[in-house]
Amino acid sequence: MSTSTSQLAQVGVIGMAVMGSNLARNFARHGYRVAVYNRTASRTDRVVADHGDEGTFLPAHTLADFVASIERPRSIVIMVQAGKGTDAVIDELMPLLEPGDVVMDGGNAHFRDTIRREQEVSAKGFHFVGCGISGGEYGALTGPSIMPGGTPESYRIIGPMLEDISAHVTNADGSVDPCCAWMGPDGAGHFVKMIHNGIEYADMQVIGEAWMLLRGAGFSNAECADIFAQWNTGDLDSYLIEITSEVLRQKDPRTGADLVDVIKGRAGMKGTGTWTVMTALELGAPVSGIAEAVFARATSSHDDLRNLAQGALAGPDGTVTVADREAFVEDVRRALWCSKVIAYSQGFDEIRTGGKEFGWDIRVADAAMIWRDGCIIRAKLLERIRQEYAADPGLVSFMCAPSVAPELGEYQEAWRRVVATAVTSGVGAPVFAATLAYYDLARAPRVNAALTQAQRDFFGSHTYERIDDEGRWHLDWSGDRSESQI
Ligand code: ATR
Repeated sequence: MSTSTSQLAQVGVIGMAVMGSNLARNFARHGYRVAVYNRTASRTDRVVADHGDEGTFLPAHTLADFVASIERPRSIVIMVQAGKGTDAVIDELMPLLEPGDVVMDGGNAHFRDTIRREQEVSAKGFHFVGCGISGGEYGALTGPSIMPGGTPESYRIIGPMLEDISAHVTNADGSVDPCCAWMGPDGAGHFVKMIHNGIEYADMQVIGEAWMLLRGAGFSNAECADIFAQWNTGDLDSYLIEITSEVLRQKDPRTGADLVDVIKGRAGMKGTGTWTVMTALELGAPVSGIAEAVFARATSSHDDLRNLAQGALAGPDGTVTVADREAFVEDVRRALWCSKVIAYSQGFDEIRTGGKEFGWDIRVADAAMIWRDGCIIRAKLLERIRQEYAADPGLVSFMCAPSVAPELGEYQEAWRRVVATAVTSGVGAPVFAATLAYYDLARAPRVNAALTQAQRDFFGSHTYERIDDEGRWHLDWSGDRSESQI
């Protein structure tokens, strides 16, 4: 399609499947002229036919026409199948671009792929923005949380439009923040998005563990829905708690039973939680809450294992004996809050560690800021995380922050009771337990690692450090057991 200069698009979107078309509509609804293109032209035509009245769309049936219809420096958003689809589109696109154009990948790319693509694209004189977008298809249309990474110059070009279409949060003082901020160079945006998803896994798992404990104690799903709705009015206020209440009230259209009771206990995953854990292992960032959540999903889908174990392994059946129902609910609420704080704390620790390792200098407070709305983990807690990291950008661990540590201290007895109850009742609650273990390991003056290091020195001469002297030491375990400095 040919266009006169005055009609040129301000932004272009490639890929008219669910996410791409919704993002294009979001741009159009905000008054931007949007060029749209899809490999299969019928998809492009359908979007314009169905939604053309929402704004100004400039449909193109060839990539060359699409590129020609966008004003320079071009802002081009790729929303196609992650991986090969993204690489194919970039390859096709590059010969058509001009210096200074910005190519943004809004898919769920691994941050290492983004680093590679940024190098390839910038070598040709174009900007590459690897951008995490959270909020699902509804968020893409109505205002997602947007995490762009790339050069500061690329953000100056495309950033204002992204901020415009993102979700917005009104602060206590009346000021408004967009849920979009520059995260850092090359892979920083997709890295932060990856951690977002990892935290999402942990958040969903702790909610699930709380639900199983309440069900074990005899609360119906309707009662649990009321409890979650109540919790949503306090510190636990979040999108995931809100939808949990709604999900638990839903009846099965076929049988009339509670829907959640007819859904198989098998949870799927697309891989970003796994990436979070793999990266954490490489970084040495202990994200045990996220890891246990990923493993819990894997266990849930391991049919062979579960079928075998259900017949083979004895233990309590998950019934929770409760003397005071109200007190138990409050204990579970406190345990949920503590585990959630630890899981978020671990995730933010990974952001901080990764930011240093990859030289991104990520402003951790900004990640918290842009997750306050639009994305799946939007939660009241994030405002606190933002404030703590804004006050102390070098904060080593959110759980130790001045406003948080005393609350954990106050709640930890309830948390321990809940973990103990889960253990004695046979309710698997891996994130409740793992986050508590992390809390205890981190605060303990002496940990079993002293013995581990002695064992390592015994079998592998790996040496040890002393509490009362500098340097590294080795004991002659197989000889006279004398100590020498290494
Ligand atoms: P969704 O947004 O629904 O999650 P997706 O599965 O991530 O979608 O991506 C599907 C989109 O990627 C489609 O627009 C698809 O184009 P077609 O409609 O022509 O299938 C696009 N896509 C996938 N591989 C592609 C490729 N190699 N080149 C161009 N576009 C591709």
